[in-house]
Amino acid sequence: MKTDEICVVGVGYVGLIQAVGLASFGLKVTCVDLDPAKIDMLRRGVPPIFEAGLEEALRQAIDRGLIGFSTDIAEAAAAPLYFVAVGTPTSERTGNARLDYLEAAVSGIAAVAPPEAVITVKSTVPIGTCAALQARLDRDHPEKLLAIVSNPEFLREGTALHDFFNPERIVIGGASRPARERVRKSYAGFEERGVPVIESDTFTSETIKYAANAFLATKVTFINEISDLVETVGGDIDEVARGIGLDSRIGPQFLKAGPGYGGSCFPKDTLALATIGRRHGVQQQIVETVIRINDSRRFHILKRIEAAMGDKLSGKRVAVLGLAFKADTDDVRDSPAVEIVHALLEEGAAVRSYDPVAKLTVKHRGYRQCETIAAACEGASAVLVATEWGEFRTFDFTAVEEAVERRYIFDMRRIVDIKAPWARRWDIERIGSPLIRASG
Ligand code: UDX
Repeated sequence: MKTDEICVVGVGYVGLIQAVGLASFGLKVTCVDLDPAKIDMLRRGVPPIFEAGLEEALRQAIDRGLIGFSTDIAEAAAAPLYFVAVGTPTSERTGNARLDYLEAAVSGIAAVAPPEAVITVKSTVPIGTCAALQARLDRDHPEKLLAIVSNPEFLREGTALHDFFNPERIVIGGASRPARERVRKSYAGFEERGVPVIESDTFTSETIKYAANAFLATKVTFINEISDLVETVGGDIDEVARGIGLDSRIGPQFLKAGPGYGGSCFPKDTLALATIGRRHGVQQQIVETVIRINDSRRFHILKRIEAAMGDKLSGKRVAVLGLAFKADTDDVRDSPAVEIVHALLEEGAAVRSYDPVAKLTVKHRGYRQCETIAAACEGASAVLVATEWGEFRTFDFTAVEEAVERRYIFDMRRIVDIKAPWARRWDIERIGSPLIRASG
């Protein structure tokens, strides 16, 4: 390895986007991951995740000879700059983010890194982690003068590459100014375009990451609660959202009412922030309430579906359209759609699902994943729209009118076209609106 190269350790979602993104700037990147199957796929130019534009960007980086893959950290021994993006899953026992993968990765890097190398933490970590890692490096490798830098990511799944190339800010935390400078230099192109860079200590940068996700989760939860009110008292939640979002102090984004937030970040990060608060005796009451409201949201939805179906789900067949936690990703981690599938099965309903890309294996006799919307709707007493995929927005439900048991849609994303001619023949219920009965 040459000394001007970069090494990315952990090529999951964040690491892979980071590696491909940096390679597209002409930087030479070596990716290290313990999973040989993943490394093998990547060497062949096949991304292990579904993400817009990623396959093409990966192949370009391979063709230009700017990206390499290995399971052995020793192959990246001479890198002056490392980015660590290993997982920090929530511990079932404590609710804390587990740091064993991160600690192992940092120790592995420290053993092979050249003096004065910079180890940049991209993984989301509890506040204080980077300072503790720095103290450990200073103790275990005092002669090497290694520096820890915290550089959180703000990528959304589905638009991760776009977000990488169009950041709204870059956050760089670390005790050593030259180390921060080195990380800053790898993003020089962004700064030239006027992207603000926030340099801080690691406590601040770690907190920025948690606070950003918790704030966005709060925004989503707030509009969901207002949506429950609108459902009962009347009104249109999308117009309410528009009406408040045009106030620049509030802003229009993350005000779409739905089945509650899910995915690999919001649930994990809100829980971690609440746990950190409790551990330090500074309870994060807003975040704790947000978590509680979001967790109970699926129950609220299920009650509404149950009521519409005559309070008995047992023996009924339900079509669930969409499994991913949001559109344009195959990720089903903490997906509200998946939780609804499980809840329906527990209530004794049979579930047929359809998703354009996401896969869900459930070992239950009553569950089947179908290849088309029509197959999922066969014999259904209710059709639930659980993910905002584009094809559900434009789907003409006339095509399944004869196949369903009852023409009833529950739209958790408010995307089906209620003004379309077919909609007059269906009972349509939506998050944030009272039931619209078939009129034709
Ligand atoms: C999020 C952050 O946006 C990103 O900055 C961070 O790096 C990782 O976590 P992601 O998990 O990909 O990204 O999803 P995001 O688009 O933020 O949506 C999170 C959840 O909120 C989804 O379940 C989504 O359906 C829900 N959501 C979002 C709403 O219900 N309404 C909205 O208006 C926005």
